[in-house]
Amino acid sequence: MAGKIPQSFIDDLLNRTDIIELIDSRVHLKKAGKNYQACCPFHNEKSPSFSVSPEKQFYHCFGCGAHGNAIGFLMEYDGLTFPDAVGELAGLHGLTVPHDQPQHQQGSAASADHYQLMEWAARYFQGQLKNAPSAISYLKERGLTGEVVKQFAIGYAPSGWDGLRQTLVRSAATEAQLVELGMLISRDGGGSYDRFRDRIMFPIRDRRGRVIGFGGRVLGNGTPKYLNSPETPIFHKGKELFGLYQVKEKHRSPVRILIVEGYMDVVALAQFGVDYAVASLGTSTTSDHMHLLFRTTSEVVCCYDGDNAGREAAWRALENALPSLQDGKNLRFVFLPAEHDPDSFIREYGREAFEQKLDSAQSYADFLFERLSRDLNLSGEAGKNELANKAIALIRRVPEGFNRESLLTKLSAQLRWGENEKRLRDIFRRQEKEAQQTTAVQPQTGKIKLTLIRRAIALVVQHPQQAALLPPLPDVLRTLNQPGINVLLSLLTQLHNNPMTTGQLLEHWRDTREGRALAQLAMLDEVAVGDNIQQELEDVCDRLLDLYLQQRLATLQNKAQNTGQLNPEEIQELQFLLTEYKRSAK
Ligand code: UTP
Ligand code: MN
Repeated sequence: MAGKIPQSFIDDLLNRTDIIELIDSRVHLKKAGKNYQACCPFHNEKSPSFSVSPEKQFYHCFGCGAHGNAIGFLMEYDGLTFPDAVGELAGLHGLTVPHDQPQHQQGSAASADHYQLMEWAARYFQGQLKNAPSAISYLKERGLTGEVVKQFAIGYAPSGWDGLRQTLVRSAATEAQLVELGMLISRDGGGSYDRFRDRIMFPIRDRRGRVIGFGGRVLGNGTPKYLNSPETPIFHKGKELFGLYQVKEKHRSPVRILIVEGYMDVVALAQFGVDYAVASLGTSTTSDHMHLLFRTTSEVVCCYDGDNAGREAAWRALENALPSLQDGKNLRFVFLPAEHDPDSFIREYGREAFEQKLDSAQSYADFLFERLSRDLNLSGEAGKNELANKAIALIRRVPEGFNRESLLTKLSAQLRWGENEKRLRDIFRRQEKEAQQTTAVQPQTGKIKLTLIRRAIALVVQHPQQAALLPPLPDVLRTLNQPGINVLLSLLTQLHNNPMTTGQLLEHWRDTREGRALAQLAMLDEVAVGDNIQQELEDVCDRLLDLYLQQRLATLQNKAQNTGQLNPEEIQELQFLLTEYKRSAK
């Protein structure tokens, strides 16, 4: 496994990143005072309570309590792990993520990471294709060029039981790892064998181009036609799309992306120049897929077979896409003639005819109403009511805005309730209210009591630049009998000579017990009473020092009273404290 990412790299990365720019590329932000606002992307709301501070480099939602820095935002919004979010940010700045040496290296063979092993597997299959005339002639029969085979790194898994195993397994640890990655299957009596045998191999890559799984097709008519990698620690079918990496290689921001059903469709379309198609991996199109696609493009076109199964798949895709239909996003549907899929269609009619089909694709609104009214009799009131109820349940999933409004307008035209659009809005509001009562987010109402220490910490995390300039506090303060003093002193040590933003500072506390409380303090309003932050910081520190003096004084006086004796140093300290105390009391 790779070692830890050095904290200094993360500091530097956050330094180079502007959280406003980062969030704005995903959620449109509006300036409001010195902060920026939007409707919260993490819960459903009507008025914006999501606020991003350029100064703090931190975001916070007053409605649902979501908060974090640039890394946290990518983790939440893009559904990334911590290392992947760091990788994504690094990529934006053209940096590669360094890793510390792992501390326990268990022999070099065992230390290859999952991605490295999968990459080696892909290379092995590619190499095997060269020596497999049957596989080469199958690909030729399917009309694939050498060029596109290379572009998608298509390979061949030979028919023996242990070609991959013989090549990659160097130790019991790698064998176990390959089993975990779904490339080998354990035998009951011990040992293992290749999962993929005598199949054309399509490597599946994540957005960063790393191989995370495979789809393997039989050469003839065997079953299953496609064998896919199982779910593994790095492969989640419902979250990945075959071909997305290749699309993004060709287009930095594609104008539209096409979803098709099969691996072969993606490859054939790319060969004919339609280099913006992706496929889900033998599952239906999930809301994660849609969310991912709409972050990459503003128009998604679903291209499914014209048969019943294709229409069902399209309907599920539509249902799953509704929450991603922010303003400016569009979704359309193409149904090919029943005897065709995109692969056979483009080979028969060519690119132009195919793209014409795309241009005349059906809008999601038309598809939605066509489907809903299919089995209803709209000449009677009962049918109309049913349509209204069903449609509204779906329309409510669309984010507020133009898309939602135009669906409502279309619905009222369908219902021919004429002027009586109010009736529709009433049903809409009633449904919304019912839903809100069941799924309401709990706003954070519990007010934090601002003790002296909390106020000091809040000032420090909210104004780290000024706090960095404070003279160091004496270490004896650690003995102060006040919960939180250690956190305050650690914060000040972290900041000393090392100016940071709030977002950077809190990054040092990720996954700690105190992290959450610190974030809450970072977002508290009106901690500073005036504009002179520096002065206020010095004042709270002075008050803490006073507290310490009082506490120590009391301890020494107590001891003197109870035991009747203090050692010479204690007497000296007591005298010093008494004068200090008088001085500070003035
Ligand atoms: P299709 O059966 O439509 O095959 O499956 P296809 O894409 O046209 O493939 P070719 O042209 O015969 O080679 C569509 C997709 O469904 C998944 C695969 O992702 C496939 O690309 N699938 C299909 C499986 O996962 N397993 C199967 O056994 C069949
Ligand atoms: Mn096909």
